Amino acid sequence: MTAVTVATEAVPAPIEAAPIQGHTARLPWPFPDDLSAFRYSVNVEPGRSPHRTAAGQWGAHIVDLGGEEYGAIMAERRRILDADPQRLKMMPGMMPAAWDLLLYYLRDLSLSYPAIMSLEEDGDRFHWRNRALGTDQAFVLGDLDSLPYDPMTFLGREIPDDLLLVKERDGKLHFDAGLVTFAAAWSVSFDVGMSMYEIHSPVPRMNRERITARAEQFLSHLPADQVYRRVNWTLSASGSRKLDVSLEELPEWGTDIAELVRDKDWGRLQLRIEVEHFIRLPMTGAVTFNIRTHMSSLEEIKRIPAWRDQLATVVLELPEDLAAYKGFLDYRQDAMAWLTDGSAS
Ligand code: HEM
Repeated sequence: MTAVTVATEAVPAPIEAAPIQGHTARLPWPFPDDLSAFRYSVNVEPGRSPHRTAAGQWGAHIVDLGGEEYGAIMAERRRILDADPQRLKMMPGMMPAAWDLLLYYLRDLSLSYPAIMSLEEDGDRFHWRNRALGTDQAFVLGDLDSLPYDPMTFLGREIPDDLLLVKERDGKLHFDAGLVTFAAAWSVSFDVGMSMYEIHSPVPRMNRERITARAEQFLSHLPADQVYRRVNWTLSASGSRKLDVSLEELPEWGTDIAELVRDKDWGRLQLRIEVEHFIRLPMTGAVTFNIRTHMSSLEEIKRIPAWRDQLATVVLELPEDLAAYKGFLDYRQDAMAWLTDGSAS
């Protein structure tokens, strides 16, 4: 697919003396202004609410198409899906939830981006148009033969988000369907079908400190049609803005970090941020855990003093078990010394 360049959103109001453009301006900075010590928590907030940051703004819509990067991200998503159909996994009985997801998102997109996206509705017949990618598709809700792909794959080829669906089974929430091409060192094939406790068992403190229990409680009581989100972050295991650092691709990126550390090439290290949306879908009651991944290099972050200082403070303060899980225990001192080198802090 050819990458396209589109203006997808109103440009945020100018920030004083901040000529920051592109992905840095739309970066969902993961820390509140006054935060200096980070711990895992059920850090959820209502979605569809814009946040100003030191470099710009994010969060007005559920889906951030990515501005001028939209075409390139979607080309990468489609390349991966064409090469590896195993990135879609569905447990039996999840197809109705997948249709629910598709319809919810196409309706939302047509309202968020009316200049380039539209959805016509006539009973159970729909017509989707996405002028940025050239998609023009009529379909009948629930009729698999009316789409070129299953509903999750169809949606995944239109938006940058990884798509995850959670359903209650045996009194517990389970991750029962996923279309995931940009996982941060995990695998949809391995995790699908697991409960929230099984998924989070490698994560320090999550189960022991009852964070998983509180997260499950929150998701179980999420009202229909309500949109919530949380932001998660790490330093990327890959030394470029490579989105696909899934376990499936490990041979491609597994040595990146060792090379970056050897070369002390800290400016290329990426802050990897995930915005995760929780929505209880109206027809089936399944809950989404859709993940939009953003990245910015330390070189870019270094140019924004508030971000530079806060990231260094948070990373250096993080307890060892969390820094080890996030993968930067061994190099955080050197990387953060580079980040703050030459600054007053
Ligand atoms: C409010 C709800 C949730 C919270 C607070 C939460 C929190 C977390 C945290 C703190 C991590 C560690 C991430 C890091 O430090 O980089 C994590 C990892 C992860 N979470 Fe969640 N999570 C939630 C819901 C979910 C749901 C619903 C799913 C699946 C549908 C999920 C799937 C994962 C996966 C796959 C990982 C990576 C685990 C690994 O390393 O193998 N999470 N989560």
